[in-house]
Amino acid sequence: MCGIVGYVGFREAYPVLVKGLHRLEYRGYDSAGVALVNGNALNIYKTKGKVSRLERFAETQNVGGNIGIAHTRWATHGEPNDVNAHPHCSESGTLAIIHNGIVENYAVLKAALVENGYTFRSCTDTEVMVQLIEYVRSSNGCTLLEALQIALRQVVGAYAIALIDKNDPDRILAARRSSPLVVGLGNDEYFLASDATPIVEYTDKVVYIDDGEIAVIDRGKPLRVVNFDNVESTFDVRRLEMSICQLEKGSYPHFMLKEIFEQPSTIRDCIRGRINIEADRVTLSGAFDNRERFLAAQRIVIVACGTSWHAALIGEYLIEEMCRIPVEVEYASEFRYRNPVIHNSDVVIDLSQSGETADTLAAVELAKSKGAFIFGVCNAVGSSIPRATDSGAYIHVGPEIGVASTKAFTGQVTVLAMLALTLAREKGSIDREQYIATIRHLVQLPQLIEGALKLDGQIRELSKIFTYARNFLYLGRGYNYPVALEGALKLKEISYIHAEGYPAAEMKHGPIALIDNEMPIIVIATADSLYDKTVSNIEEIKARGGRVVAIVSEGDTVVRGIADYVLEVPQAPEPASCIVSTIPLQLLAYYIAVNKGRNVDQPRNLAKSVTVE
Ligand code: AGP
Ligand code: GLU
Repeated sequence: MCGIVGYVGFREAYPVLVKGLHRLEYRGYDSAGVALVNGNALNIYKTKGKVSRLERFAETQNVGGNIGIAHTRWATHGEPNDVNAHPHCSESGTLAIIHNGIVENYAVLKAALVENGYTFRSCTDTEVMVQLIEYVRSSNGCTLLEALQIALRQVVGAYAIALIDKNDPDRILAARRSSPLVVGLGNDEYFLASDATPIVEYTDKVVYIDDGEIAVIDRGKPLRVVNFDNVESTFDVRRLEMSICQLEKGSYPHFMLKEIFEQPSTIRDCIRGRINIEADRVTLSGAFDNRERFLAAQRIVIVACGTSWHAALIGEYLIEEMCRIPVEVEYASEFRYRNPVIHNSDVVIDLSQSGETADTLAAVELAKSKGAFIFGVCNAVGSSIPRATDSGAYIHVGPEIGVASTKAFTGQVTVLAMLALTLAREKGSIDREQYIATIRHLVQLPQLIEGALKLDGQIRELSKIFTYARNFLYLGRGYNYPVALEGALKLKEISYIHAEGYPAAEMKHGPIALIDNEMPIIVIATADSLYDKTVSNIEEIKARGGRVVAIVSEGDTVVRGIADYVLEVPQAPEPASCIVSTIPLQLLAYYIAVNKGRNVDQPRNLAKSVTVE
């Protein structure tokens, strides 16, 4: 986790670095720091807390210099305090490093360095790297690049690092293994970051560094990329398709609210060019081009984490129903370590908003090693998972900054629906009427979501009633079971209220014991094939004095007569319906968190992309 930024060029580096840190703060916000080379000095300023705290601290400091590196941390080793904040400095005070990731063998390396007289100030694994590099350089009498190459061959773990040397004020060295790194190419200047968001306002030309590569970034010279054996690598310069307004909140108080309200347009972007309504045809080209591989698959395995895992469950229902191919959904963190049975005839779908989640990325590598065909469904263009997969589809919902995922979830479900339809048509496993009806409802999704967003005022009011509830239960059946899981996760992560999602019919096997008049129960009871059964579940809750908030389809009269509160959403068949039902749950979580005064966009202990295990 964490965000790293670097700059070398003709501008003052500090403002570029701090602005970049703000952009990357969604990745970690335990501490922030910056290192600048100015003349003969290496100035390092770092503090516990957010980037704004660093800015206040640096107000009285000398922040001059046109080369520097900066970091916003999500602590793995050592508590989040001033000392453990990055950048970390080498024993001699010559080198400064920032790091995203984990050095797994740091204890062994540290012990050896201590034996050689090195002293450590922090409890981080990161400090070991900078000391090791310095040790290698001084004991071998080699260049910094050579020392970095030798040192990294000894480091086990994941990293994206940037390194500066106070005696070489024209160069940044940056390396990666399993953590993301992008270099932006300006005119006579270079930018470096964990993702492209800090770079976009200066240049649209970027180079994504690959695993095992080192970027040698020299002021006034062409970029070089070498591996740990000093073999030069060729690289592609890519063009960014991101705009600055996508990275700013505009008139919204939080990114999360902005992203919730963006969903009509993000779904439009997601289906654009893929659904041809005149021809009643949907083509997800990454899947269509590899249809033989998909259709020959004995089964499809979808691996993901968190919200993406919830979207994967809906994907399972969709693919099994439309394509009649068995689907299994796995938590990437379990999958990667449990020696799963994967055949080379399997298709593995990796679902990830960020495309950087360490567990999901590791699952790609594992499945690859077993010969499976790997299909990525990601949002962040150019991120590690899409680059590691055989084929894939972007969800195209634009940068998601709020730590709680909203528009990515609805985009993921939409892409999985288009994937299922593409394959079902090729397989002939869907009848034409259902195919056409599903396509038409996907096309209507933006309007349907707009309809659900009209609940905003009603939900804001409703949220006041429940702000102080200590526990919530979310229930749904069929496609709405994963929606219930997602609603509960949203509430948990931003309001810190305990919430559980459950299949509505499973309630009677345990959670029913929790029901009392204090615990709100959110039930998704939209008009679908399981509607009557869900109504019975609501009756069971009411018979035990529970308080029910029901998400129902417009015009529902039955549930209105039983539930305590109802939220009406536009009616639609699946999968459009479950996407629409998600909207009020996102809004409810948002307003409860706001009422509680939580930091909605940066909830405690979390970070946007979990690039460590
Ligand atoms: C979502 O609200 C979460 N913050 C989190 O569960 C997230 O979905 C998970 O970490 C997976 O991220 P990814 O989609 O970027 O792989
Ligand atoms: N492992 C390092 C630390 O704890 C880096 C964590 C990060 O990626 O922010 O400081």
